[in-house]
Amino acid sequence: MSQIAELNETAELKLGDITVEFPVITGSENEKGIDISSLRGKSGYITLDLGYKNTGSCTSAITFLDGELGILRHRGYSIEDLADKASFIEVAFLVIYGELPTKDQLAEFEAGIKEYLMPPAGIQQMLKAFPSTGHPMGMLSSAICALHAWYPESLNAYRPEDQKALTYRRLLGFLPAISAWIYCVQNGQDFTKADASLDYSENFMKMMFNKDVAPAVVSAINKLLILHVDHEQNCSASTVRMVGSSHANLYASISAGIDALWGPLHGGANQKVIEMLEAIKADGGDADKWLAKAKDKDDPFRLMGFGHRVYKNFDPRARIIKKAADEVLNNLGIVDPVLEIAKALESKALADPYFAERKLYPNVDFYSGIIYRALGIPTEMFTVMFAIGRLPGWIAQWREMRIDGDPIGRPRQIYTGYPPRDFVAMENR
Ligand code: SDX
Repeated sequence: MSQIAELNETAELKLGDITVEFPVITGSENEKGIDISSLRGKSGYITLDLGYKNTGSCTSAITFLDGELGILRHRGYSIEDLADKASFIEVAFLVIYGELPTKDQLAEFEAGIKEYLMPPAGIQQMLKAFPSTGHPMGMLSSAICALHAWYPESLNAYRPEDQKALTYRRLLGFLPAISAWIYCVQNGQDFTKADASLDYSENFMKMMFNKDVAPAVVSAINKLLILHVDHEQNCSASTVRMVGSSHANLYASISAGIDALWGPLHGGANQKVIEMLEAIKADGGDADKWLAKAKDKDDPFRLMGFGHRVYKNFDPRARIIKKAADEVLNNLGIVDPVLEIAKALESKALADPYFAERKLYPNVDFYSGIIYRALGIPTEMFTVMFAIGRLPGWIAQWREMRIDGDPIGRPRQIYTGYPPRDFVAMENR
């Protein structure tokens, strides 16, 4: 269980003529939470918090973020340091096991993943069965869930940790390969083979494009994967925890997380950002016109890649990715007009009262698609890139939830339907 300070603080709630007292818990970064687990028993009341904007679902020691100050740390290490100084597999080990790996631990972890760089051949048949209209995220979640069939021992929710760790390594090895195979199927290419002599990002890119990958590209992918590794209780991580809380297997839990990430309000935003920038470019590149649409309550258009449930300041990942976008495009000698449109939108939005008052800043998705595009990754694969980066975080969250013995997730509701009524026979309807 994470470090919780016992400060004997309490909170009182006055409900009609009763006052109910609750313990206040304090996290290791002095975040405060009112523990209301006794509320219904003491008062018959529940709380209501649409979208869980003010509600904590768990305690966790994996990621700390401060939305007001734009701080993001994994197991105490800043995202800036990790993005600059670590490899993706090092950071994967860190978020899952809590410490930066020693040289031997990293070598063992990496070797364990490299045993599973080639998924079962049956997955290839499965991917080939999809019509061309299949979206990579739907194909990915289907394939990941299907893996249980090759490893039925994974259905035993009560296996010891070392056997669960086998599934962590299989997922970390298989997910990039399945992602690359989805690209191959959708582009009429033969299935590629993994090359265990390459590092994680390089092997993935080579499996996708079936050609050698420039070091600058490998470095950019490594950094992007790190920047997506975990983000505390976001929609997809909460989904992985919710599914895992029923003691469903890890393949099913990760598959559900992929589906939650797919949504355009979450990880699907990186695809929508590029589609939005392309639309603005095709429409003449008038940033003012599109910002006006984003502010118009009668217009469903939103500025994709802007705003965040937690960050009410710059998303620290967006700063790093924006700098990397410039570097990658300069390195590759690419001039991409949508990058200029993105920068124009950003500077105008940041100076606009509508966005300033609502504390809407660029998030992780605003610039990431520009780099993926420069690296030749198709738009529909952008959210798959997000999933590859987020996989270690999802595994870490699922593992922590099981180690902490969190109960099955089962929120309550306030019923607003009909009062009791008699059944109406068909002839009387
Ligand atoms: C990710 O949670 C995480 O940690 C997620 C993530 C991760 O790493 O896991 O960081 C990754 O999902 C990043 C977010 C990617 N999504 C987008 O870029 C989609 C565009 N953004 C919005 O849809 C929105 O900002 C959300 C969904 C991200 C956050 O929505 P909230 O917190 O529910 O806020 P809200 O919808 O209640 O908005 C508050 C106000 C509203 O205006 P008012 O009703 O107060 O007048 O801000 C407005 C909204 O209309 N608003 C926007 C806007 N985002 C919010 N207006 C125009 N354009 C936008 N993008």
